[in-house]
Amino acid sequence: MAHDDDGSDKRLRSRRWFDNPHDPAMTALYVERYLNFGLTREELQGGKPIIGIAQTGSDLSPCNRHHLDLATRVRDGIRAAGGIPLEFPIHPIQETGKRPTAALDRNLAYLSLVEVLHGYPIDGVVLTTGCDKTTPACLMGAATVNIPAIVLSGGPMLDGWWQGKLSGSGTIVWEGRKLYAEGKINYEEFMKMVASSAPSVGHCNTMGTALSMNSLAEALGMSLPGCAAIPGPYRERGQMAFETGRRIVDMVHENLRPSDIMTKQAFDNAVVAAAALGASSNCPIHMVAIARHMGVDHSLDDWQRLGPDVALLVDCQPAGRFLGERFHRGGGVPAVMKELLQAGKLHGGAMTVTGKTVAENLEGVPDGDREVIRAYARPMKEAAGYVVMSGNLFDNAVMKISVIDKEFRDRFLSSPDHPNVFEGKAIVFEGPEDYHARIEDPDLGVEDQSVLVIRNCGPVGYPGSAEVVNMQPPASMLKRGINALPTMGDGRQSGTSGSPSILNVSPEAAVGGGLALLKTGDRIRIDLNTRKVDVLLPPGELDARRAAWKKPELQNLTPWEEIYRSMVGQLGHGGCLEPATLYLNILETRGES
Ligand code: FES
Ligand code: MG
Repeated sequence: MAHDDDGSDKRLRSRRWFDNPHDPAMTALYVERYLNFGLTREELQGGKPIIGIAQTGSDLSPCNRHHLDLATRVRDGIRAAGGIPLEFPIHPIQETGKRPTAALDRNLAYLSLVEVLHGYPIDGVVLTTGCDKTTPACLMGAATVNIPAIVLSGGPMLDGWWQGKLSGSGTIVWEGRKLYAEGKINYEEFMKMVASSAPSVGHCNTMGTALSMNSLAEALGMSLPGCAAIPGPYRERGQMAFETGRRIVDMVHENLRPSDIMTKQAFDNAVVAAAALGASSNCPIHMVAIARHMGVDHSLDDWQRLGPDVALLVDCQPAGRFLGERFHRGGGVPAVMKELLQAGKLHGGAMTVTGKTVAENLEGVPDGDREVIRAYARPMKEAAGYVVMSGNLFDNAVMKISVIDKEFRDRFLSSPDHPNVFEGKAIVFEGPEDYHARIEDPDLGVEDQSVLVIRNCGPVGYPGSAEVVNMQPPASMLKRGINALPTMGDGRQSGTSGSPSILNVSPEAAVGGGLALLKTGDRIRIDLNTRKVDVLLPPGELDARRAAWKKPELQNLTPWEEIYRSMVGQLGHGGCLEPATLYLNILETRGES
């Protein structure tokens, strides 16, 4: 370590602002304004690491709001280790509150974080994560700037309960809306039922996108072991905040950077962990995006290469029964990683924020509670990861195998002559409004062997890509006990949904992808054996339709929508702002690292 005799670290980039005798005028200007809330010159100029706390909590972001309190303990940890904390806000991303969709803002929060980390005197950063897009946005920003960074998640809410049964975020909505559609509950009961799933501070308590992405941040090595699953209100959450603050200071002294941790091996580990967790179908998108900003060669090919053979170990909703609180008490991510390491599925040598490897971190970790975290030899389901589909309508789409239940398999995938093959008639919707307007129309012609297709819901089309593909069948079918039909679309679906949909279809209809050419009544063949989805049409018909296709006129409602649409890539490539992926390791480019 390049320390002065007084223990100060000479290499800190913050010294260019706060301690540069060659440019006293600028140094004075930089220093004076940070004094006006009580910091001293000794603190700013003493060669101590300046640690940013990237604050994602606010009243507009209730899932992350308790980070406002946790930051106190992060500050304590930073100070205890000899650093100086400087907290700053991140553009709010609230999954359920932001219109048209929170996905639009992931890249906006990413951009603003890059500007802050690059443009201010920050030597290392604590990323406060939680709600779905906050985790990838923070990791993408830290990847681009590549300064020492550590994730502190806010943790899931406590387990919710409804009429004596566990009530999980989001998942209860999908259950409740069926009961509502069937007329079994009224509006008041529906509201109470859904509110029961949110009993405390914290993010969604199901294995939805929030808990999945925070678990994968841990699997990547970017948070302290055990961080992801600690419920928001538990005392351990505050203790984890303290330890995280303490650790980032040492990471700065060690110059341990995201590029040392988020390697190809780490992303491999995350894919395997995702399958074992039954993680959200949004994870492939976000992980590909983080990897691209890190400059790591990681794509959907890696999800297909590593994921499908991995067993589902974690019994959490929507793929299973339990919620985050129980998952934490059962051992959380370390217990899952231990099973995977012992089964030879992980790169044990991958580096983590602790300064130790994955395998070293797992030494001495006890077995999980077998009710919620299964042994690898006795999983919940064999071969349960994502499969990546392709065909004559699109280049890629993902399907989450872990949520295919027996009823769905028996109904659609169990033909004795063609197991795992389904053929049905497409019913095409132009977006969620069109779906809601027409799904109950008896003339729509939905049959027991139909495929519900939704388009114009991708990054450009929506804009931002909407979580709408998990369409439910009409009420008349629900009443007959048909709870799900195969669905497909160029949007996404909530990670809390248990629907085995064909999702994230890329390229999307709005940019001329094959879904734009589909018509209601076309026959679609889904073959899980070959991972193909094809529309069955006479030769030349698709080409003729393509020749007649006209690019839709898209109306932007805000300046950001226009900028976003002009730069965003497809979901299969992470839905990144494409020009931003060219800015790798930007401090090194400036000779600052
Ligand atoms: Fe914010 Fe689920 S809505 S975590
Ligand atoms: Mg969501």
